[in-house]
Order: sequence, then C-alpha cells, then structure tokens
Amino acid sequence: MNAKEILNAMTLEEKAAFCSGRDFWHTKAIERLGVPSVMMCDGPHGLRKQEGEGDHLGINKSIETVCYPTAAALASSFDRDVMRQLGEALGQECQAENVAMLLGPGLNIKRSPLCGRNFEYFSEDPYLAGEMGSSYVKALQSKGVAACAKHFACNNQETRRMSGSSQVDERTLHEIYLPAFEAVVKNGKTRSLMCAYNAVNGEFCAENKMLLTDTLREKWGFDGFVVTDWGAVKGRAEGIASGLDLEMPGGPNATGEKLIEAVKAGTLSETDLDKAVLNILHFVETALAERDENAVIDRDACRELAGKLAGECAVLLKNEDILPLQKGRKAVFIGEFAANPRYQGAGSSHINVPHPVSALEAAGDAVTYARGYDAHSSKTDEALLAEALNAAKDAEAAVIFAGLPDAFESEGADRDHMRLPDNQNELIAAVSAVNPHTVVVLHGGSPVELPWLDKVPAVLLMYLGGERVGAAAADLLWGKVNPSGHLAETWPIRLEDNPSYLNFPGEDGVVTYAEGIFVGYRYYDKKKMPVNFPFGHGLSYTDFSFSNLTADKEKLTDRETVTVSVDVTNEGTSAGKAVVQLYVRDVKSTVRRPVRELKDFAKAALEPGETRTVTFTLDKRAFAYYEPKVHDFFVESGEFAVEIGLSCRDIRLAKSVHVEGTAEISFTIDANTTIGQLMKHPKGAAFIRQMMGKSNGPSDSEQAEAMGEGSEKIMQQMMFEMPLGSLVSYGRMTSGQLRGLIASLNS
Ligand code: BGC
Repeated sequence: MNAKEILNAMTLEEKAAFCSGRDFWHTKAIERLGVPSVMMCDGPHGLRKQEGEGDHLGINKSIETVCYPTAAALASSFDRDVMRQLGEALGQECQAENVAMLLGPGLNIKRSPLCGRNFEYFSEDPYLAGEMGSSYVKALQSKGVAACAKHFACNNQETRRMSGSSQVDERTLHEIYLPAFEAVVKNGKTRSLMCAYNAVNGEFCAENKMLLTDTLREKWGFDGFVVTDWGAVKGRAEGIASGLDLEMPGGPNATGEKLIEAVKAGTLSETDLDKAVLNILHFVETALAERDENAVIDRDACRELAGKLAGECAVLLKNEDILPLQKGRKAVFIGEFAANPRYQGAGSSHINVPHPVSALEAAGDAVTYARGYDAHSSKTDEALLAEALNAAKDAEAAVIFAGLPDAFESEGADRDHMRLPDNQNELIAAVSAVNPHTVVVLHGGSPVELPWLDKVPAVLLMYLGGERVGAAAADLLWGKVNPSGHLAETWPIRLEDNPSYLNFPGEDGVVTYAEGIFVGYRYYDKKKMPVNFPFGHGLSYTDFSFSNLTADKEKLTDRETVTVSVDVTNEGTSAGKAVVQLYVRDVKSTVRRPVRELKDFAKAALEPGETRTVTFTLDKRAFAYYEPKVHDFFVESGEFAVEIGLSCRDIRLAKSVHVEGTAEISFTIDANTTIGQLMKHPKGAAFIRQMMGKSNGPSDSEQAEAMGEGSEKIMQQMMFEMPLGSLVSYGRMTSGQLRGLIASLNS
C-alpha cells in the first residue's frame, strides 16, 4: 500500500495516535497496515543515538561515536564541500545505525554573542547559514537520511526559550531570520523542519500558521513534514490546523486524545488531520525506500575526517610574523585546554566520544607543558601562574590554549557576559609580558572580548572544532595545514557594541528585535564601528590577490541573472585556500539598507603562483530587499556595486551594474499620503507632474535663487513632505475635489 492508501484505511483513532511519537526517538508503527516505526536522533555534528533511556538534554548516555566540528566552526570554513563531506559521513553512519532522520542543521541567526546555543548555529548572515545548511542537507539526504532543519523560527536565545515571544517586524523576519530556512527548503529540499519552542509575534511556532503554512508551504513550496521541538506542543488541534505534523517526544503523555475530541467536536477538520498523517507517512515511506540494510561505518576514517574538517574551519585571526612555528624550536603549551580541549557544547547535541585528541598529545615531544589555569574556576591560581611564567620565559614560543569553559556554553542557558574567565585573561597578559612570542589558541562557540589582543602577536581560533581539534591545532601551528577559515560572525570589541545589547534577552518573556535588519556586520558597518575582527576575516600563511573582475552584463532587469567572474592568485610561497567573498552594495536607496551584504562566496585551493577564475551567478535576490508593502522581495532600480573581498571590510575589487526592477509597489493613497510617496506611485507621479506644470506661484528655481545655495533641495524636500490633505488646507482644492482625486488615483 502507498501512503495515500494507508491513510484511507486508517481509523480516526489511528490517525490521531500516529501524529505523536512512540517514545523519545521513534515514530509509531501501525502494525495492522504494515507501517513500521522509524528512528530519529540528535545531530547535528555527530550522531547522538540513545539506546537506553532517552532524554533531550544530552544527559543520558548515547553510543560512542565521532564528534565533528560544531556549526560555529563549520561555517567558518566558508566551504560547501566541507558540509558535503560531513553530511555524507553522517548519512552513512545513520544508515549503519538504522536512523531515518538526523535532527539538524541548526539554522538560527546569531543575533547576540551571548546565545548559549550559538555553537550549534552557523552565522549572523542568513545567506551563509542557508548555503552551509543546504549543502549539509543535500549530502545527508543523498544517503537516504532525512534532515530536520531547526529551530523554525526566531529561536535566537535560550532565555525563556520555551515560553518567550520574539517580536520581529515583517521585513526583518524575511530578510534576516527566515532566508536560511527558505534556502534549505527550496535548494536543500529538506524533508523535515523542527518548529521552535518560542512564539513569533505572540503566536507559538508550533501553531503559527503564518510560519508553518503561509510561508513554509505556500510561499516556499515545502512538501515535507514538520516536527515539534521536544515538548513544544501548545494547542494540539490548533497546531495541526496551522500546519504542524508530528509531536515529539511521544509516549504516554502524547496528545492524540485531544485530536480525536477536536475532530468529533468539529473544531478540527479531519482533512487537516489527514494532511499531517500523510506528511508523516510520506517520510516513513521514503525512509523505507531509501533504507540501506548493508551500510557499514568506518569510525576510524570518520575520526580522520573530523580532524581534516577542523583544519578547514580554524580561523587565523592575527599573525605578526610568528606562525607557523619553526620546527625544532622550543615551544611550550600553556593552559588546561591544551591537554583537555573544548571541542563541543552541552545539551542535546552532545556526542559521546571515547577519546578526543588534545593538541598536547598531537604535538608529542615538540613541546613542554604548563597547566596555567584551572578551567573550573575563574580565580587565578598563583602556583599555576608562576609555573606557566617560568616555563614561558625561556621558550622560543609560548602557545596558550584559552577559551570558554564548558559551563559557559550550553543549550538552555545564555551567557551573561562576553568575557573569558579572569584567570585566563590574567594568564595571557602575564605570559605575553615575559615572552613576546606568545600565541593564543582560542576555543569556544561564540566571540569573547580580547583585552590582551594588542599584546600578543598571534591568535588562532579553533571554535568548538570536534574531537580532533587538538590534532588540527597542532597541524595549523606548525604549518602542516595552512589556515583557511574566515569568520562567519563579527567579533565585536565589547558586548555593549552588539546591536541587540539593549534588547537581549528581553523582559517578561518578550524580546523585541529592535535593531531590525541591522544584525552583525550589517550594523557594525553601517555605524562604521571599530570591531576586533570583521565578518569574513581570516588570515593565511600565504597572500592572495584579485584581478579581472568582469560581469557579463552592465545593465539587466531583475528577471535576468548576471554572471560575474574574478581571478584570484596565490602570491606567496605556500599552497593555500582563498575564501573569495562577493558582496552587493546598493549605491543609492530610498529605504534603509546595510552598507553591503554577502551574496555569494567560493573557496579556491591554489598552489604558489597559481591563478584561478572564480565565477558567480547573481539573480534578483542578490539585489533585492524585502518590501512589506508588497510582502515580497523587491528590487529598487538603480546602480549596485558588486564587490569582491576577503572580509566585509577588505574589499579588493568592485564593479558597477545597473539593475532595473520590474515590479511596482502599489499602495492605497489617502489624504495623509505625501507628495514624495505619490512620486513612487505610477498614477500619483503623473498627477504631480501635471500639477507642477499648472502652478502659477513663483517657480521653485526663482524661490531657490532668492534663498541661496542648497535651497533648491530644501524646497523640494519641503514639498515632498506635504500630505495631499494640505492641498485643501492651502486652498488649492476643496475637500470634495480631494476626495474625487483620491478615488481616481486609487482606481
Ligand atoms: C532541542 C532540539 C533537539 C531536541 C531533541 C530539544 O530540547 O531544542 O534541538 O533536537 O531537544 O533532543
């Protein structure tokens, strides 16, 4: 029987029961109709398969397996192929473990550095998050395992995560918080989405029709199924009617009874229930069809891969002629994280790793070691500090492994400041004072303040790089691997600089996204604010140059695409990978827009002296903003700069293209519509031109001449600000004439 036939054979009771899980990790079987139960497990950067008692907080044991770099690290690779390799490896492992769906990727935007789950999310930039997420989804699903993009939507903090409401205006929602989900639906073809616990604009995501039906299914064409975050169900029948499908976890407390009651009482239509059942049945049907009974997993090979990917993700933030370290020179590793690396965060994504590799283990005899600080405390331990200083003062390089301790980063809790523990900051300052050749290796899932930044010549950021992060760090320090990661988020100087600072985490469960579209670099760049490291920043042991930026058209409409290509050359003596970033800047706009926005990127591997041509194709979305008046993306005609750079603040080449928008903004005219607004209305503009022609007062230019330089602009502005109603106040027409005029303009 196919899904439709099974649905037709199901009783109301069976349908209601089927819409919640059997237990923590399985869908329900319908034995009578031959429908088996299938398993889903947490990801996203490893497989958290629980065979014993289930929980969604990562507390109970799961199988021993491989922990790959977390999303914060992965995004810094700026490499879709990294995501492909990871997705395929995880897909293979899921097949070997008979897991039909992996709960990831996490696509929420990094609004504040304090969000406790930032390590599970990609970026402050929606395009980058969407691209990395889509590549992962495609690769995972190519192995026959469903992805489940989460947490839909606006789950950008852990404070009140299960009960709060994110208040977001329509433009911001569509321009910043939804596009990554849109990309995994439209391009990644994700088979599932997980709705967030929180509400958006007062409506819980589990029953938010605007999100689950109007946007997801109707606008984006999603044809998979939606699962609740674990325990996110509010009104059960309301959820189903709004477009929610499966409730998780299931078990004895599941709410099937409520659905039966609602259908019988006529408050839920059986057709809506049928839709949910069919969506889940389709998922099970596909999982069975693509099940690979013979799949095996080579975990040793996966561990190698985890280390290789960690090397692709690390970001060399600063390097003043000290890295790579010279072989044979005496280096000391300082800090507990050198021996015990931080490589993942806490919560539902926590992977059970038998043996993570530390940098100390990887470096072997090449280094000596001093513990430096106690990672469970923020107070300086004088004995540890003295030992570290003693070890550092004669070393040819002192490499300090610092970062956020475990207790600082977890699902379920936000940080309350952006600092490292005091003992680590004190250690770095003290060591760099006795040894100018001090390198800081940083671990953590989110930015921290760097009060000692100008005292150390090099900083290597490993993020939470998975179980082989230590081996990768050693390879990068000695130049076996050339750093090629770039920041997927801005590193501000201090927390107070962050645009969400005054509105994070909100009050009484309400968080207002008052900064609007100005999230991350969109804000810092607009304010020309100094930052520690800008979005897109990352150094290499070689240098790259750019030339020959060309576009196949200089003029196009928003129905056409433009192909842009640029040559990138490795100017140095070591092989390396360049992250070529393409930004678009709207040169002149009548609406508020960021200075520039990332619209594409490519990673190019180059031998010394080698040149490669990188090509990008831009469509309407690269030039558009979201216009609430038309509830859609909209291109304002004019000139756009297509920029190529190595960060949002390191633009190397730019090219101008003229894009003609083909849509019109139609709006209703009333007595309060200004002359300026009317100029943007096709009929309104004609009326204004006609009215100006008939004017018998002194002409603008005569008056302007009388007022002196610059006054023409002022006169124009004054006029543009006048509402139509003032034509009556100034005796240019009667109220009756105005009513007639408004009616005819709106007709
Ligand atoms: C988390 C999800 C996770 C689920 C299952 C929830 O608490 O928010 O990300 O997939 O639990 O463990």
